Amino acid sequence: MLLPDNGRVSETKFPRGLAERLRGILIDADYTVSGVRDRLGDAAARALAREELVPALRATGGEERLGLLLRLWWLRSPIPARAARSILPVDELAEAGLVTVEEGPGGPVVYSLVHLGPWELEDGRPGFVVSDPKVRPGSGGVPRPDHVVGTGGASSTLSQLIVDGPVDRALDVGTGCGVQALHLASRAREVVATDLNPRAVRLAGISLALSGVDGARLEQGSLYEPVGGERFDLIVSNPPFVITPDSSRYTYRESDLPGDTVCAELVRQAPAHLTEGGWCQILANWVHRDGDDWEDRVGGWVTGTGCSGWVVQRDVQDPAEYVELWLRDSCEHGTPEYTRRYDAWLDYFEREGIKGIGFGWISLRNDVAQDATVRVEELRHEIEQPVGPYLPDVVDGAMTALRLTDAALLSAHVALAPDVVEERTGRPGAPDPEKIVLRQRGGLRRVARVGTVEAALAGVCDGTMPVGPLLDVIAELIGEDPVAVRERAPEALRTLISEGFFRVAR
Ligand SMILES: C[S@@+](CC[C@H](N)C(=O)[O-])C[C@H]1O[C@@H](n2cnc3c(N)ncnc32)[C@H](O)[C@@H]1O
Repeated sequence: MLLPDNGRVSETKFPRGLAERLRGILIDADYTVSGVRDRLGDAAARALAREELVPALRATGGEERLGLLLRLWWLRSPIPARAARSILPVDELAEAGLVTVEEGPGGPVVYSLVHLGPWELEDGRPGFVVSDPKVRPGSGGVPRPDHVVGTGGASSTLSQLIVDGPVDRALDVGTGCGVQALHLASRAREVVATDLNPRAVRLAGISLALSGVDGARLEQGSLYEPVGGERFDLIVSNPPFVITPDSSRYTYRESDLPGDTVCAELVRQAPAHLTEGGWCQILANWVHRDGDDWEDRVGGWVTGTGCSGWVVQRDVQDPAEYVELWLRDSCEHGTPEYTRRYDAWLDYFEREGIKGIGFGWISLRNDVAQDATVRVEELRHEIEQPVGPYLPDVVDGAMTALRLTDAALLSAHVALAPDVVEERTGRPGAPDPEKIVLRQRGGLRRVARVGTVEAALAGVCDGTMPVGPLLDVIAELIGEDPVAVRERAPEALRTLISEGFFRVAR
């Protein structure tokens, strides 16, 4: 069954009084993250995460308030109009384009025209996110071109990446349903959220109003254009990064710029909108071309700004995997157009010489006045989440390491990072290990194979003595020439500092 069209929601007003009343009703019924989790139970919640609604529908039967709200706003199942009217201002919500009343076989029913899900603000207060309902595979529908996507894996990846701490002004570019703006609201004095899609601006406004977030400014327009010459301490964006031949077919994931230009532009223009020391953090896709080094190309976007930065590739897909992923995302799998679109997309990649597509994140800090450093790397293993609290240390570690000359390093006081352990492997009883590795138990969970000298340094470096004299003692203990050890050690130690195994204490 095709559900009623929900175009009106972007055209009608959502009065402030109605937002306050609806927020009160939802909180009163415990339509919150924990209330919904408890009401559904683990099995139904897991099924829902797999896009299977039946266990959740079974768990929310009857006429009890929370069950009715869940069926209406989350599962998008019609509920009897009489029951709906007993808990919600149905006519006002219909006037605002959020629900519609239809004639069903057993009498009038109320359908939701949006997905309205509970959310938790960073300060623990309940919030709500309003988006277009997800088009489910097999429903026979595809998203509207101006579909406003709800929260998902990418939004939570970005929110976990955002650096910690309070800021004065924050900007969310491509706000969609407003989820990042909600994150920023508890830590920024002022939040500005922009989107090219007027429908997204409208739904983000409803999310903010229902979440009791006052004063965030919403603007419609492309990239940084709506904020002119304004500067921010924090800019975040989960942009429309999908690389496709049909640009702008779906605004929620595709821009009208070719290839990966939308991500490059967000980075390129960031310094003009950042305060000194301000951060810009975005998710991105980038192309891999034959004979082209992705690290140089994407790293070049950041070095071109003069800012310090950290570019991380978390995954790479081949063209076919990528096309399948995004055709599934728009529910086109199994449609008559599927094969033609798949083929045309691969043609485009072939024409452009695109051999793979990288997915990852880019963080840059406006250090233009200093000696900016850019670190580019691939990290495909599981790392500690959220990354935001320790992200500045990663950038600072790389910056410190790059600045230290050999002489400065030998006179520096260096300490082993607190979460590092040593692992030795070798034949039992053998006098020396075959392999020594240092392993970070938290953070980026890096592993580094080290030699005897670095392992010995790891054992003694607590920041109280400079590196040079420590190396002299180690050289004597292992029977090596101290001059040669002093010459050799700085390079390896510099890498270990830049990767966060050691910190410069002073
Ligand atoms: C992937 S969604 C991100 C939604 C939300 N911020 C999140 O983290 O889940 C990308 C958003 O960018 C918007 N968008 C597309 N082109 C844009 C442009 N040129 N300038 C600004 N926003 C744009 C889309 O309308 C969409 O809301």
